[in-house]
Amino acid sequence: MKLAVLGGSFNPIHLGHLYLADTVLSILDFDRVLLVPAHTSPFKPETPGASPRDRLDMVLASVAASPRLGVDDLEMRRGGISYTADTLEEIIKQYRPEGKPALILGDDLAKDFAGWKRAAEIAERAELIIARRVSDPSNGRPPSFPFPCTPVRNEIMEISSAMVRDRIGRGGAWRSLVPQGARFIIEERGLYQNLNQNRNQNPNQDHNQVEEPPPEKQAGKPQTDGGPVFPSLLARVEDTARSMLKPSRFLHSRGTALLTRDLALALGMDGNAAYLAGIAHDMGKALAEGELFALAKRDGKPISRLERKKPALLHGRAAAVLLRERFGVHNGDILEAVALHTSGGAGMGILAQVLFIADKIEFSRKGVDNSLRERAAEVLAGKGDFPALFRAVLEDNVRYLRSKTMEVSEKTLRILELLKQGAPGAEKHQA
Ligand SMILES: [Fe+2]
Ligand SMILES: [Fe+2]
Repeated sequence: MKLAVLGGSFNPIHLGHLYLADTVLSILDFDRVLLVPAHTSPFKPETPGASPRDRLDMVLASVAASPRLGVDDLEMRRGGISYTADTLEEIIKQYRPEGKPALILGDDLAKDFAGWKRAAEIAERAELIIARRVSDPSNGRPPSFPFPCTPVRNEIMEISSAMVRDRIGRGGAWRSLVPQGARFIIEERGLYQNLNQNRNQNPNQDHNQVEEPPPEKQAGKPQTDGGPVFPSLLARVEDTARSMLKPSRFLHSRGTALLTRDLALALGMDGNAAYLAGIAHDMGKALAEGELFALAKRDGKPISRLERKKPALLHGRAAAVLLRERFGVHNGDILEAVALHTSGGAGMGILAQVLFIADKIEFSRKGVDNSLRERAAEVLAGKGDFPALFRAVLEDNVRYLRSKTMEVSEKTLRILELLKQGAPGAEKHQA
């Protein structure tokens, strides 16, 4: 296997790194680029805003489904200052690559290469690939590079880790500059938010060991009741919904997720929890009747007469069970919202009401009464009457079902009755 090595702090990894690796793989004859995050770079001894473990996790999360990109944590395991000569020696011993491995250097670093520890030995044992970095006009080869090298006239992607860190710290636009996996980790762990504070606290605290993030900050952890809903969970559920559903149904789910989120935020609620409920609510639509019954039963509630007659009504309950069992979601508000989105239920919580509304009036749905969308727009603008909107959507739903001579669920009629009476049970969760 012909191997090229791309080292660096990756603080954080960004699209420029991946584009450079992609360029080397595309125009030179290599099978794999190995990304090797430094524990402590000799050139940048301070790595503000993220621990070595954070940086390694971001790199790992950015190479999913990319078999031509490898990651090795040997510099992290070795600890201390990461010298390329030591790393190269280990890589040759471990990987036994075909021919000399290549070392990809930015021309900004290459100009000082002669001063690196055991530079001549590195140049002897590796093929040096010199790539253009941010706005460097030298076209690859530095003017006085004293060793054989292969310049790459790659296009320059004007992104640097320092730029990403700076933008996060200032609240600027940065999310499309980094791979999605890295974005999730930055958001979930709140990296680079308070750089100035971190820098002044203890510049050496992250350099000596690879620290585990506190358990509550680890990505992919099952959601607990009321715990934060992480973007990586949203992405996993959304991928599953997209793979299960027909495109039109998936687009409806996405429209519902967006409107549920927007309404929830307007009402001062958690946007991610709302999006999760919306994106998952129709996953059960892809299931056969037998699966619907089997899943729905596992929520511990009886199957009603109407649900037996029309098993499709169980798709909300089945989706809620899928969320809990397959994705570890235990947030009661989210599970209730998904389970009740088909027929509603007396005393349903505010998130369940929001999802019920969004499902019925999201923008890809045809034949929606315009006045409902206008009322929703008022709620979104912070001026509307949310309980009135919920009641209007329920009444519209009942009218629609009756016009099609379809049986209306007793649960739907019961909640409408309670709303008409102004019963506290129906309003108890309303803001
Ligand atoms: Fe549905
Ligand atoms: Fe739906």
